[in-house]
Amino acid sequence: MKVLILGNGGREDALAWKLGQSPRIAQLYCAPGNGGIGDHAQCLPVDIKNVDALIALANQIKPDLTVVGPELPLMLGVVDEFNRRGWRIFGPTQAAAQLESSKSFAKEFMARHRIPTAHYAVCDSLDQIHDALPHFHAPIVVKADGLAAGKGVVICATKEEVISVSSEMLSGKLLGEAGARVVLEECLQGEEISFLVISDGEHVAPLAAAQDHKRVGDGDTGPNTGGMGAYSTSALLDEQMQSWLLQHVARPVVAGMKAEGAEYKGVLYCGLMMTARGPMVLEFNCRFGDPETQPILMRMESDLLDALEASIAGNISGEGFEWSTDASACVVMASGGYPGTYEAGKKITGLEDAAKLEDVTVFHAGTSKRDGSYYTSGGRVLGVTARGADLQRALDRAYAAVEKIRFEGAHYRKDIGQRALNGKKG
Ligand code: AMP
Ligand code: GLY
Repeated sequence: MKVLILGNGGREDALAWKLGQSPRIAQLYCAPGNGGIGDHAQCLPVDIKNVDALIALANQIKPDLTVVGPELPLMLGVVDEFNRRGWRIFGPTQAAAQLESSKSFAKEFMARHRIPTAHYAVCDSLDQIHDALPHFHAPIVVKADGLAAGKGVVICATKEEVISVSSEMLSGKLLGEAGARVVLEECLQGEEISFLVISDGEHVAPLAAAQDHKRVGDGDTGPNTGGMGAYSTSALLDEQMQSWLLQHVARPVVAGMKAEGAEYKGVLYCGLMMTARGPMVLEFNCRFGDPETQPILMRMESDLLDALEASIAGNISGEGFEWSTDASACVVMASGGYPGTYEAGKKITGLEDAAKLEDVTVFHAGTSKRDGSYYTSGGRVLGVTARGADLQRALDRAYAAVEKIRFEGAHYRKDIGQRALNGKKG
């Protein structure tokens, strides 16, 4: 069978790595892919923001299955267009992907279906912000309604700051169209957990839970990034809590979307805050997380291809998937300057030595390959991922591998999984 993966990040390298282990796959393609993905899939230089170009690619290579990595092609309707032409594709339709593409849609949907989330107000003007403010206590979270590549959430310490951030968003100055509507939210406290399920439109099966590290600096300091590392352990979410989340979050979302005529198939990523009042949904993503997918797939023992096909065919089993009891951890190595402007084209050394370490896989995110050598080409460059009998061992292996890899300006967080080790979770 021929499988096409769309995307070019660490998540897509992990998907290619895992799908590459499936005995039923004869040929893997990735559009556009990256330097590392090219080592186990055929990379095709196609712009994934151009749905017509993706259809032309499908007509050319005739994939038996297409797997969408990032949100953008989903929001542009790639699943609708592939389905219309009879190409099998894994992921939600454009209408279902609104759970990620519009924060106001997601909040109003959660209110309609009584899914636990922070108090909120949807505002289209500064007048509406002024009307809503008396119902909130500082700190207050201001979110742009549309996709903002991780820059659409600002936690404001005072109401004055809410007004200044909202007016910049609403005027289009800060984020263009994405900020034309804003959502105000109460600020929640607690541990964040990424809880992902695979849905077939009616049934869901959970993936192993993970925890991301969004800030650039140790101790959760500095600006937000796409994610600087993640880990997954069986202790992160006990069975009772997992059942609760299936019953009160994942299943109501899938049933609610179906009832509203936008059947949800694919990965449903629930970003949760575990508060003193119980778990609350911070956001939904309509795709695998990056970097969560790297440690999650390292622990997955079932064939991922079976899971993706079951989602499309509508036969996700209640028994779910098989998971290793091992822990896993991913440390992201980023380019100097990231998440701000960064330089690319730096030669990466030590990858072979790192890969020789036991239970280590180095997933490529922003890399390109020239004359047998790898060079940096993005902000997040590598996701150095390892497994071990417990989180400490997984982290020791991941950091031992990180120590072997060099490129100019490289930086990474030294404290991935540390809060879990210090007793919070794990
Ligand atoms: P989002 O894109 O909605 O997930 O927000 C990005 C990040 O902002 C989350 O991962 C949280 O760290 C933080 N965040 C979002 N909403 C809230 C909230 N209501 N309270 C506290 N932190 C939040
Ligand atoms: N790691 C967060 C995300 O994938 O959105």
